[in-house]
Amino acid sequence: MKKVSISFTLNGDTVSAEVPPTWTLLKTLREAFELTGAKEGCGVGECGACTVIVDGQTVNACIYPVPEIDGRHVTTIEGLADKEGNLDPLQTAFLENNGVQCGFCTSGMIMSARSLLDDNSSPNEDEIRTAISGNICRCTGYVQIVESIDIAAKKA
Ligand code: FES
Ligand code: FES
Repeated sequence: MKKVSISFTLNGDTVSAEVPPTWTLLKTLREAFELTGAKEGCGVGECGACTVIVDGQTVNACIYPVPEIDGRHVTTIEGLADKEGNLDPLQTAFLENNGVQCGFCTSGMIMSARSLLDDNSSPNEDEIRTAISGNICRCTGYVQIVESIDIAAKKA
């Protein structure tokens, strides 16, 4: 299959690759760039495990056609810590407040929460629950996740 050339900004760095045009953004991140934080759960845009931020908006990378990423800015969970390795306040809050159990949903949860806090630094509980409404967790019951996001917002 003829490949397409893509060039975009990934976690602050300009990157390029040649990939099959049928690949999704998720497959490209995981296989071409070896960034495996975003997970494939459902693969059809229903569970949010693959959530990343593109040009400031959350997207389901599992259904995002990779040719459309050319020229855009992508942030993944791997891009949240700073250059010294200090975690994003959301990552710390999830770790310290049992927001993580099996961890499969966690990357997507945190990216949805990051997008929320970038737009609204002091969300109420309803706003937090709405922001993660596209992210399914089979483990935690959501209480610790919502609390973790609230704590991160308050600390920031
Ligand atoms: S894997 Fe993308 S929404 Fe479920
Ligand atoms: S921590 Fe297991 S799916 Fe959320």
